[in-house]
Amino acid sequence: KKIKSGEVTWQSPSNIALVKYWGKKENQIPANPSISFTLDNCRSTTTLKFTEKETSDNTFEFDFFFEGQPKEDFKPKIQKFFQRIEEYCPYLKDYKFEIHSENSFPHSSGIASSASGMSAIAVCLMDLERQLFPEIEEEYFIQKSSFLARLGSGSASRSLEGGLVVWGEHENIEGSSDEYGVKFPYDVHEIFKTYKDTILLVDKGEKQVSSTVGHDLMHGHPFAENRFAQAHDNLDKLISVLKSGNTQDFIKIVESEALTLHAMMMSSLPYFILMKPNTLEIINKIWEYREKTEIPICFTLDAGANVHVLYPETHESKILEFINNELVVYCQNGHYICDQVGSGATKI
Ligand code: PMV
Repeated sequence: KKIKSGEVTWQSPSNIALVKYWGKKENQIPANPSISFTLDNCRSTTTLKFTEKETSDNTFEFDFFFEGQPKEDFKPKIQKFFQRIEEYCPYLKDYKFEIHSENSFPHSSGIASSASGMSAIAVCLMDLERQLFPEIEEEYFIQKSSFLARLGSGSASRSLEGGLVVWGEHENIEGSSDEYGVKFPYDVHEIFKTYKDTILLVDKGEKQVSSTVGHDLMHGHPFAENRFAQAHDNLDKLISVLKSGNTQDFIKIVESEALTLHAMMMSSLPYFILMKPNTLEIINKIWEYREKTEIPICFTLDAGANVHVLYPETHESKILEFINNELVVYCQNGHYICDQVGSGATKI
């Protein structure tokens, strides 16, 4: 089919990993499998406008706008992304694109927008592809969206679908793949279907070390092989935890994964620390509170200083009270974001 011009808009969420992806091989193939909760409120909304070029040439033509303003410093990222996906999207050079993106969460909140942003661009491109090839089926659409998103930013491959998403081959997870994310294929206990994630914004600054550099430092890292094996193992344990709803075991795996991620950063060469003093204050307060109340609250961390507080929905009011009374003092300007498990990318 011939399409002269048009536009599509999609919303895609961020995600928070329970078993972390840290380290990769060629072509954005992960060194170990990972699993994440898809988030709900932290989203990117992206419009892709496309116009067929008058005369075809051999360049990618696109403009990028962030929250209404042209954003030049993001263009090299998209240029590189287009180069990587060109062989899978041969129509890219037939069009001139305008990409307009905005985030639901405050920019410079220290919340990485690469997962939501890249997955939104990927699914917009797949929408164009489906207009060109209407025979494309739903399963292929989602899989290839995730596949393209992965080539933009690894963790973005886990943002297309809702609930729990696995990316990376694991022998006990049917259909799992290094190439794209898949929905966790087994029945999940009710408690994990409505889990809460309150994100405490400890440090809103740009992180000093990009995740690209961090992944690279796993090459030749003294603990790399053990770490990759441990991630396999933790994911294996998490499979039965997610089925049974055992929050005590959930906590052990998730917190250990977060601390191990940061331990890898602290033991690479060069070494670096992304946690801040307030990150540790919050972790200690959470541990104290958990011991005192026996409420199954836990934390996880991304590649930054912010703390994701994870807990079952039934404890929401108590935990928000705890956060407001004891944890907001450690947040920059007292800011935090309330989020929960969400349902993946949607067309607007
Ligand atoms: O998608 P990237 O390349 O920005 O890597 C993100 C890695 C972590 O967020 C630290 C962990 C993960 O699995 O999301």
